[in-house]
Amino acid sequence: MFVESFKVESPNVKYGDQEIHSIYNYETTELVHESRNGSYAWIVKPKTVVYEFKTDTRVPKLGVMLVGWGGNNGSTLTAAVNPDEIVFGGWDISNLNLADSMTRAKVLDIDLQKQLRPYMESMAPLPGIYDPDFIAANQDSRANNVIKGTKSEQVQQIIKDIREFKEQNKVDKVVVLWTANTERFSNVMVGLNDTTENLLASLEKNEAEIAPSTLYAIACVMENIPFINGSPQNTFVPGLIDFAIRRNSLIGGDDFKSGQTKMKSVLVDFLVGAGIKPTSIVSYNHLGNNDGMNLSAPQTFRSKEISKSNVVDDMVASNGILYQPGEHPDHVIVIKYVPYVGDSKRAMDEYTSEIFMGGKSTIVLHNTCEDSLLAAPIILDLVLLAELSTRIQLKAEGEGKFHSFHPVATILSYLTKAPLVPPGTPVVNALSKQRAMLENILRACIGLAPENNMILEYK
Ligand code: NAI
Repeated sequence: MFVESFKVESPNVKYGDQEIHSIYNYETTELVHESRNGSYAWIVKPKTVVYEFKTDTRVPKLGVMLVGWGGNNGSTLTAAVNPDEIVFGGWDISNLNLADSMTRAKVLDIDLQKQLRPYMESMAPLPGIYDPDFIAANQDSRANNVIKGTKSEQVQQIIKDIREFKEQNKVDKVVVLWTANTERFSNVMVGLNDTTENLLASLEKNEAEIAPSTLYAIACVMENIPFINGSPQNTFVPGLIDFAIRRNSLIGGDDFKSGQTKMKSVLVDFLVGAGIKPTSIVSYNHLGNNDGMNLSAPQTFRSKEISKSNVVDDMVASNGILYQPGEHPDHVIVIKYVPYVGDSKRAMDEYTSEIFMGGKSTIVLHNTCEDSLLAAPIILDLVLLAELSTRIQLKAEGEGKFHSFHPVATILSYLTKAPLVPPGTPVVNALSKQRAMLENILRACIGLAPENNMILEYK
């Protein structure tokens, strides 16, 4: 049954004019190694912590500023979405208006493009921060719309752009999301970008190693604007994470989880959980869009390779019977640029696993799909979820004041390939766990218990 709108009736939930207040029993278990009668034993102790949640129910008029607005993802999303409550804008180092960007992307059907063109011709991206050292040299011919000046001046320009966009479009809130080209990793060095102070000092010194994506992120943290990174590079250097935590400004990422990796985070979770031991995972991709061209340079490919490689780590570590400590499947990622296939990405995966009595099982997948049609809805979900999460406050029993979620937004991890987590927090890649986390947090906001799938009423 589809329920369009509902209200929870419970002594634990109160609906106010502007917020929903809920009281929620967070049930977990604690595993302790205790000395009992002279020998140690593992003891499991159920634990309940009472939380309160407050969710502001006033939905703002939202401004979404995309870095890389004129790219395949940016133009496809803008063409596909026309809601009244969201205004799109953003930056691109290429000056094409959004109608011409849509034509260049060759993602949407030509008849649909003709119908959409009049709505998109007047949308033009603001000049972007371009640094040829960070993306592939083959992007140079595109860069005709760039912000001049020192890095510090560039950050100031981004701040000005955000403020003007907010003012001109009369939006209540803005979320910024990076869907520009994948950059190379920037070096992380003590004194350069390891702390807030060092990062901001490096900005003033115009240090070459601060990536454009980090400059946009600095501007957003300064303005307390949520910033989401949809590409794999390490935009969030330690100094930036530190800065975001200190300013309590939401950051989330990294890299949209759209196709091959999403499948991997389901399949490997299933295999390892079922006692089937993946020993070799080989993933090939070829694609012919501008993203593929940019990734044909070794340094940007390396960013993608890292982001795609770590996804099985937690699942492998979760089964100490299958894998010895430190043991890991061979895991290889190949990406090739094949212009002819355009945005239609081909992903081929081979999973070889050891099964019962030394047998082998090989699973082969082949997926053909328009890359940007996978990414665009994920962008929309990311910005909506980021905005919603800024309206939720919580406190555990004993905590004096309500606070927002940790500014490093793990709630977005269902949608990202290499989830960014607060320092010291375990990374969860398994898709079903990420989804359960998201769903159950939203249920907690309205005082409902987690979905437990026990169906006891039929037992
Ligand atoms: P694209 O190459 O079509 O678009 C990127 C746009 O960014 C271009 O218009 C370019 O001119 C612009 N740009 C580059 N550097 C910029 C800067 N510093 N400031 C402002 N604009 C800048 O690429 P596409 O297909 O839209 O993908 C965008 C990003 O999303 C890529 O990094 C890609 O790896 C990532 N991604 C895409 C997925 C997908 O399924 N399409 C999945 C996961 C990640």
